[in-house]
Amino acid sequence: MSYLLDDEGRTAAIRLLPLRKGGLRDWQKLASDAHGQWAATSGFEARQGQVLALPDSDGRLQSIVFGMQENGWLYQLASIYKSLPPGNYVLDSDWNDEQVGQASLGWGLAAYAFDRYRKANEKPRQLYLEKQIAKTVPPLCQAQCLVRDLVNTPTEHMGPAELAAAVKAEADRFGARFRVVSGDELLTENFPAIHAVGRASVSEPRLVELAWGDEAAPLLALVGKGVCFDTGGLDLKTTSGMGLMKKDMGGAAHALALARLVMEHKLPIRLLLLIPAVENSVAGNAYRPGDVITTRKGLHIEIGNTDAEGRVVLSDALAFACEHEPDLVIDFATLTGAARVALGADLPPLFSNDADVSREMLKAGEQKEDPMWGMPLYQPYVELIKSPIADLNNSAKSPYGGCITAALFLEHFVTEDTPWVHIDTFAWNQSNRAGRPEGGEALGLRAVFAYLQERYS
Ligand code: BES
Ligand code: ZN
Ligand code: ZN
Repeated sequence: MSYLLDDEGRTAAIRLLPLRKGGLRDWQKLASDAHGQWAATSGFEARQGQVLALPDSDGRLQSIVFGMQENGWLYQLASIYKSLPPGNYVLDSDWNDEQVGQASLGWGLAAYAFDRYRKANEKPRQLYLEKQIAKTVPPLCQAQCLVRDLVNTPTEHMGPAELAAAVKAEADRFGARFRVVSGDELLTENFPAIHAVGRASVSEPRLVELAWGDEAAPLLALVGKGVCFDTGGLDLKTTSGMGLMKKDMGGAAHALALARLVMEHKLPIRLLLLIPAVENSVAGNAYRPGDVITTRKGLHIEIGNTDAEGRVVLSDALAFACEHEPDLVIDFATLTGAARVALGADLPPLFSNDADVSREMLKAGEQKEDPMWGMPLYQPYVELIKSPIADLNNSAKSPYGGCITAALFLEHFVTEDTPWVHIDTFAWNQSNRAGRPEGGEALGLRAVFAYLQERYS
């Protein structure tokens, strides 16, 4: 771990001194002559992310002065992390608790490396945390890194079976109930849509369920799209379209990490986590374009495109969630390419049938530097997902507004008065940025958790 939680050795730690824009002069006045001179000689101007290492009288590293970022707090330390030598650090700032918490979280996010297949032989840099922050920040960091690990793991090692095992690991850790309905059981237990999408894979489709908490408390249902690989099915994706599709279980990873946070913080709720875990594969028994599938809810779906599989598996999971009369349903899904076209890779669209929930969740996202953007469940577009022979088509007649038509499709499987939020997440960083390594990423996770803490406090 990149954090130090007890005080041992704290006084010997290397101090991290942030300088605001224009703060260089004031610092130089207080610094020793040698340090001031060294800063000038080195051309240190306290530009954003610029660092200056300062020795003590024995030539040991005493402190690091650095120029602050102008926007936000999350990446203040993340932006210098990679330029720091290995060692133990302590932040020496005039920032408030919220700001220190954010920056400390960014530190941990910057320290992340996916090392399952290639050990990082870097020596660690570790940050001392104050007591209060030590309780909140490491769990958030670990939850976000759980999402990254699950998404980064290739399908060979993160298929439906392994995804189910990852859920079981959390259930075991927190004493939650765990159940899997798999293969042909999906038919007898009435999850026909999940079965249809996943039946062509050698790793059988399954619905993974985790239940936790006080029977008398309000129920929160979390649902995550767990398509462990999306070939597109018989409507096969192109090479470039398929390249990243190990990440199509990113929604499940978000839902699982959120479930962990809920259980770890013992929120006073009852939790139901539902993950349809499948592979959208090609084989002789694959579901086909033109097929009509019966769903758990009884609605019939015409398959316009086997690549729009996420909404099909989610239809059964959402319907099942609503049977439990939840207080709130939240689903995460890497559902559409159209969401990326609309808002780019970093900003997940959030849809909700409840304006208050939506507003508060977006607000939490702003506060936690984990932004999402509200998008409409624009009812006239339901026209685009109608079918001449079934209740719905899984592929809209027009690609325009593709993340909206996908969300409208899901809405058909949510009971009318149940507050519901749908987050169409990318779950991926396309390039390396400070605190945001290329690869799997949690988007909206901290926002939603902050919202839940508020709602159920
Ligand atoms: N998993 C994809 C969506 C996706 C693609 C997310 C790329 C992130 C990056 C999903 O199953 C899919 O293929 N959706 C289709 C729907 C279309 C066939 C109606 C899409 O978005 O093109
Ligand atoms: Zn697809
Ligand atoms: Zn998909």
